[in-house]
Amino acid sequence: MQNDLFDNIAPEMEELAPGVFLFRSYVDENVFMDTVKSVTEEIPFRHMVTPGGKKINVAGSSMGQCGWYSDHRGYRYEMSNPVTGKNWPDIPEHIHRIITNAAKKAGFNNFRADSCFINRYEPNIRLTAHIDQDEVDFTQPIVSVSLGVSAIFQIFGETRGGKPLNIPLHSGDLLIFGGPARRLYHGVKKLDLGHHPLTGDKRINLTFRKAL
Ligand code: SIN
Ligand code: FE2
Repeated sequence: MQNDLFDNIAPEMEELAPGVFLFRSYVDENVFMDTVKSVTEEIPFRHMVTPGGKKINVAGSSMGQCGWYSDHRGYRYEMSNPVTGKNWPDIPEHIHRIITNAAKKAGFNNFRADSCFINRYEPNIRLTAHIDQDEVDFTQPIVSVSLGVSAIFQIFGETRGGKPLNIPLHSGDLLIFGGPARRLYHGVKKLDLGHHPLTGDKRINLTFRKAL
């Protein structure tokens, strides 16, 4: 009896492709949402522009020792918020513990994020295929947490084309991409019209990185 019961329990972590680890319903959404609210009270979501002057459709905010930033001067990490001149808010220690611990389960033993970019997707907004390459050490993974409306995360390959691996991400899911997956093109499909009690019609994603 006992065995039947346990056989039906989904594994905590699944490796979907080399270096891609999915933890379904892993985090307490309210805990992460409280952090998002307090960070974005201080640094409201805003649309940055690409070095070429195009508006970035996904709105962003940051916490950590440094924050990812983009404007006419290029993509980079900034040690303080260029708009206010102030430091970015700290990543709370209870959030660090959850992220570091998940990374350890996936085999990344000394991951401690120094930056977290918070993305906000509105209906019909997508994130085009890109590689995160402004960080110094590519042996460090990226740990992503999703909140609110579900979306399809896509991992392409070493180029933008080809058939992607489609990973539906729901509120509370945690995804790690590291190792051989760290330098692959990835993106997020256009957000469907949906509703979630935590975020209304939006999706929020937090990507924890070791940038410096
Ligand atoms: C990213 O690739 O930077 C964000 C991923 C996501 O929103 O799930
Ligand atoms: Fe990315």
